[in-house]
Amino acid sequence: MLDKLNQLREEALAALGAVKEGDALADWNRRYLGKKGALTQMLRSIGELPNEERPAFGRTANEVKVTLEAAYEARAEALRREEMEQDLKRGALDVTLPGRPIGPGHLHITTQTLRKITAIFAEMGFQVYQSPDVETDELNFGLLNIPPHHPARDMWDTFWITDEVLLRTHTSPGQIRVMRERANACLTPEPIRVILPGKCYRYEQVTARSEHQFYQVEGLAVGRSITMTDLIGTLTEFARRLYGPERSIRIRGSYFPFTEPSIEADMDCILCQGEGCRVCKYSGWLEVGGAGMVHPVVLQNGGYDPAEWSGFAFGLGVERPAMLKYNIDDIRLFYGNDLRFLRQF
Ligand code: FA5
Repeated sequence: MLDKLNQLREEALAALGAVKEGDALADWNRRYLGKKGALTQMLRSIGELPNEERPAFGRTANEVKVTLEAAYEARAEALRREEMEQDLKRGALDVTLPGRPIGPGHLHITTQTLRKITAIFAEMGFQVYQSPDVETDELNFGLLNIPPHHPARDMWDTFWITDEVLLRTHTSPGQIRVMRERANACLTPEPIRVILPGKCYRYEQVTARSEHQFYQVEGLAVGRSITMTDLIGTLTEFARRLYGPERSIRIRGSYFPFTEPSIEADMDCILCQGEGCRVCKYSGWLEVGGAGMVHPVVLQNGGYDPAEWSGFAFGLGVERPAMLKYNIDDIRLFYGNDLRFLRQF
């Protein structure tokens, strides 16, 4: 049997040497390496061999296969080169022709939306701040008043790097980073008005409305007499600048461990003007984001004395507002890399 394999190798290599063009090469491949090719047939016959001969046969058959496949690739490459040289000689290939131009790209819909949101808050006097995607448990949870075993951790499950390091579930840990920096920048802490745009990660089911990676824009204002009115005014102004001056805002009570009191802000539906439609699920209202007054414990963790300072914070999604603005019904389209979708924006 081993002799037969060696014979097959010699015969196949000789036949390959005689191949002069593409069709003959494809024929050769079928004849020796194809599903019904000579080598495949021989490999199938391994079952007929006595047990003790099988390992040596299998080894040699694999060597022959590797040799023939490499020889095939080399011959195919040589034929391609010969063909190109002949084309060049005949003048059929003009190497001086310019290549096909690659069309200019444009900003991704998320980047465009982020820039619009950032520009609106910049006009309102908010500085743009960045904080890392990879965070510690302490910053993402602990210092935001979410100790271990707090039930809110279930809502914000994520991808863990180590027991202490994770991909942040929200941009809120940036609040602590900014406060600590500003609290220590001068002799006394400074007032803060910043936004923190960035990517967040959640270990949750991907659906038409939820991705496992998405963007948020965090907002934080800390001062000596900041109230809920400032927060509602800021969110209303933001919604009006992004969606039109006729928008109104509705506030609902909510719960976040890092704000007290906490709220959810909605605005009247941009499609049906509050009448009720498919997009707003016939409620007349669309979600803007979560928000509230910065919890005293969080102010303290950031280095601000809650007896002297107060603040508001909010967290807005980026993809979901873009979905509303452009009537996109599935968030998975954002990062599916389908150019037919992306070129529309
Ligand atoms: C938070 O993440 C809070 N950190 C927000 C906050 C900040 C509250 C400051 C108070 C003060 P929530 O889990 O609701 O809250 O997410 C906020 C927004 O992120 C949502 O309104 C939504 O627009 C977006 N979002 C959340 N999860 C996803 C997801 N899986 N896919 C896409 N967008 C999401």
